[in-house]
Amino acid sequence: MFKILDKQVFSPIIKQMVIEAPRVARKCQPGQFVILRIHEEGERIPLTIADFDREKGTITIVFQEVGKTTKQLGTLEAGDYIKDFVGPLGTPSHIENFGTVICVGGGVGIAPVFPIARALKEAGNHVISIIGARTRELLFWEDRMREVSTELFVTTDDGSYVRKGFVTDVLKEIIEERGKDNINLVLAIGPQPMMRACCNVTKDYGIKTIVSLNALMVDGTGMCGCCRVTVGGQTRFVCVDGPEFDGHQVDFAELARRSATFRAEEQRALERHTC
Ligand code: FES
Repeated sequence: MFKILDKQVFSPIIKQMVIEAPRVARKCQPGQFVILRIHEEGERIPLTIADFDREKGTITIVFQEVGKTTKQLGTLEAGDYIKDFVGPLGTPSHIENFGTVICVGGGVGIAPVFPIARALKEAGNHVISIIGARTRELLFWEDRMREVSTELFVTTDDGSYVRKGFVTDVLKEIIEERGKDNINLVLAIGPQPMMRACCNVTKDYGIKTIVSLNALMVDGTGMCGCCRVTVGGQTRFVCVDGPEFDGHQVDFAELARRSATFRAEEQRALERHTC
């Protein structure tokens, strides 16, 4: 059992938890994820690690309540326990001094961008971060992202905070302003349509773009095939080959179709849970 040490509510649907998981904290690297299960019969859900503290033996997760399991998770409080918390899983982010890197975090995707941006800055990169959300209420960790970025840009879809627009608008502006040859890498994490849109922008400029995919998962060890995705015409497994891939090679249309496979069941489970 894994104890929830702290819980912060960023908005009615976005929550942060610090989990006591010393063995995960000892080994995890930026870009990796955990699979958790709230109770014995619960669904397994993957969540990318948002932060870790090796000394305290803790892992920070940030999640958005979108279905039954994340809603149930959101009802737990500090002092409660989670049945399973398996990790670290997946391949860590490739960190080196690339030069200038743009890190884009959309919505709850801001959380997994944070440790990667931090590692990239520590490696000597000029880190330009762009964070965005639908509204001000859904934006979080602006202060933390500022700490690990050389420059930070903030945007909201509805204009309720800082500037109005999408992260892709800012991304395009920065590339135009600085010149495509002065941007060495783009990292984009967030909802699938956002990552796809970022890739569409950078493809025109020929800038390598890494995305972190959020596929459905069961075992997390490459055996069940649930997280299968096509990258560059090859079948890859998000849980072991990813979660990060070259975004220009990802078949996003297939990923969207596969992600929607159990939507009806997910909706029924959510209705049963909330009724
Ligand atoms: Fe089973 Fe990736 S979750 S193969």
